[in-house]
Amino acid sequence: MSKKILVTGGLGFIGSHTVVELQNEGFEVVIIDNCSNSSEDVLDGIAAVTGQRPHFEKFDLREKAEVQQFFSKHEDVIGAIHFAASKAVGESVENPLLYYENNLGVLIYILQELTKKGSANFIFSSSCTVYGQADQMPITEDAPVKPAESPYGNTKQVGEEIIKDVCKVNPQLASIALRYFNPIGAHPSNEIGELPLGVPQNLVPFITQTGVGLREQLSVFGDDYPTPDGTCIRDYIHVVDVAKAHVAALQRLLDGKNDENFEVFNLGTGTGSSVMEVIQSFERVSGEKLNYRVAPRRAGDVIQAYADTQKANDVLGWKAHSSLDDAVGSAWNWEKKIRNHEKASI
Ligand code: WQD
Repeated sequence: MSKKILVTGGLGFIGSHTVVELQNEGFEVVIIDNCSNSSEDVLDGIAAVTGQRPHFEKFDLREKAEVQQFFSKHEDVIGAIHFAASKAVGESVENPLLYYENNLGVLIYILQELTKKGSANFIFSSSCTVYGQADQMPITEDAPVKPAESPYGNTKQVGEEIIKDVCKVNPQLASIALRYFNPIGAHPSNEIGELPLGVPQNLVPFITQTGVGLREQLSVFGDDYPTPDGTCIRDYIHVVDVAKAHVAALQRLLDGKNDENFEVFNLGTGTGSSVMEVIQSFERVSGEKLNYRVAPRRAGDVIQAYADTQKANDVLGWKAHSSLDDAVGSAWNWEKKIRNHEKASI
C-alpha cells in the first residue's frame, strides 16, 4: 500500500513540522509550495532532522491545470494534508478576493482531484477562529460557529462547509478538519521553526524578535479585558504537538477508524494563558526582561479562547505534551539561531 502523501504548504511553519513527523512515521511526503510565505531552504532543515529530503514541486495551486497535472503524475498519492492558504487576518479584510481565491478556490481544485480517486484522505487546516468569541470556556467542537470577524475566518468556516458537502456525496473521500488554537515554538533540533515575513502579527514571534533586538518594544494590545490580569487569553500549543496530531488524524483515516467521513477536532492544550503570562514565560526561559508597553486594544481580538481537548484525547487518541515554557523556550532558541545565522552571513 502506498504511503505517499501530498502536503500543500509543506515549507510553511506548521506544514514543515508536520512533514518531519510524517517522515518519522514512514510516509513518503510530496510537498507543493509556491514559497510566497516560505523558503526552499526549509527543505534542508527537514532533511537535517529526518535524513530524508521530501520531493518538492514549486507552483501556485491557483493554477488549476497544474493541480490536475500533479494528480495525474502522482496517482499513488493516498491523500492530502492541506496547509497552503493565506492567513493574515488584517490582510484578508483589505484584500478579500485574494483570500477567497487562494483559500477556497484552491481547496475546490484539490477536492475535485481527490474525488476522482477510488479512495482518498484529506486533512484540512482549520482554526479556532471559526468560534469567534465562544460563549463558554473551554471550547468544544460543537460550540456554535459564529459569524466570521474577517474574510480569513470566513474561508475557514466556508472551507469546512465545502468539505462537509463534498464528503456527503463522496463516501470514498474521508476527511478531518483540525481547528488549531495558537501554534507556537520550533522543532527541538532547532533546524526548522517559524519564519514570519516582515513585522510579525502574532504574539510569540514578536516577543522573540524583541528579545533579540530586532523589534524595539512589544505592544500589549489592551490590559482592560475582563480577565484576571486584564490581557487576552489564548491556548498556546507547541507546533510539534500540532504536527503529531496531523499524523494521528491521517492514521485514523487510513485505519478506517473514523465514525463519519467528515470529522472535526480542536487542537489545543486545554490551558489558557494570558498575554502577560506569555511574557512572564519568555522572561523565565530567556532570563531577560522584555521591553513592552500597554497599547490600545487590537480590533477583532476575542477576549479568550482555549480548547476542550476531550474529543481529541479520547477519539483521536492524541494529546499535547509540551508546556508553555517548553514552547516559548523553543521559539526563543530558534530566534537566536536564525539571527546569529543572519549576523554570521553579513
Ligand atoms: C494572541 C494575543 C493579541 C501581538 C491569530 C489568528 C488565528 C491563528 C493564530 C492562523 C492576542 C496579543 C499579539 C502583539 C499583542 N492564525 N498580541 N501584541 O490573534 O489569537 O490568532 O493567529 O490560523 O486564526 O486569528 O494570535 O498571536 O496574533 O495574538 O498583545 O504584538 O496576543 O491581542 O490577545 P490570535 P496572536
